[in-house]
Amino acid sequence: MSRTEALPPAIESVVFDAAEIGRTVARLAAAIASENVGEPITLLGVLKGALFFTADLARALPAELDVRIDTIAVASYGDAKQSSGEVRLLKDASESVEGKHILVVEDIVDEGLTLTYLLRLLAGRRPASLRTCVLLNKPYRRRVQIRVDHVGLTAPDSFVVGYGLDYQEKYRNLPYLARLRDDVIGGLRRE
Ligand code: IMP
Repeated sequence: MSRTEALPPAIESVVFDAAEIGRTVARLAAAIASENVGEPITLLGVLKGALFFTADLARALPAELDVRIDTIAVASYGDAKQSSGEVRLLKDASESVEGKHILVVEDIVDEGLTLTYLLRLLAGRRPASLRTCVLLNKPYRRRVQIRVDHVGLTAPDSFVVGYGLDYQEKYRNLPYLARLRDDVIGGLRRE
């Protein structure tokens, strides 16, 4: 983003710009490639938040790796400060995960409930391996301890949008990650 470009009024500031996101995705891709868990590897992107992250991560992996892409969609309910703890499956993976090397690709881990729900669900389907890659870690309000295999960046203790993350379905299209103004945040549905 150029310095002169105006931010949307609800945006407080840019937290991570497109260049920093790009460097982070490249670093994560290199770590995933060097892990050599076995092939093929399925990137299971969690919709909608990890839409762009999954696409960029897939393209940053070495071309010689056998990479498959699938998506799963969940919703959790609550407000920006705390979720209700209820996570629902909105759309299941298209392909069976049994016997496959699955890498769950998620936008952000905050309380940890969404990823815990997904890992429980997927582990019951007997994948060959089940690992996790999260772009943003918010360690401030964990309600369940969870092991994340690959973590991109530590987010500030505030609500962030952009690069797939939304506030009431807005701002997913921003090419950077930004802090939303505190006075803007009200009730919301998180998915
Ligand atoms: P958790 O269950 O609290 O770990 O929440 C994970 C989900 O909540 C993520 O997949 C996001 O969709 C959503 N979420 C948590 N924090 C933020 C944020 O700062 N901005 C946008 N979405 C968020």
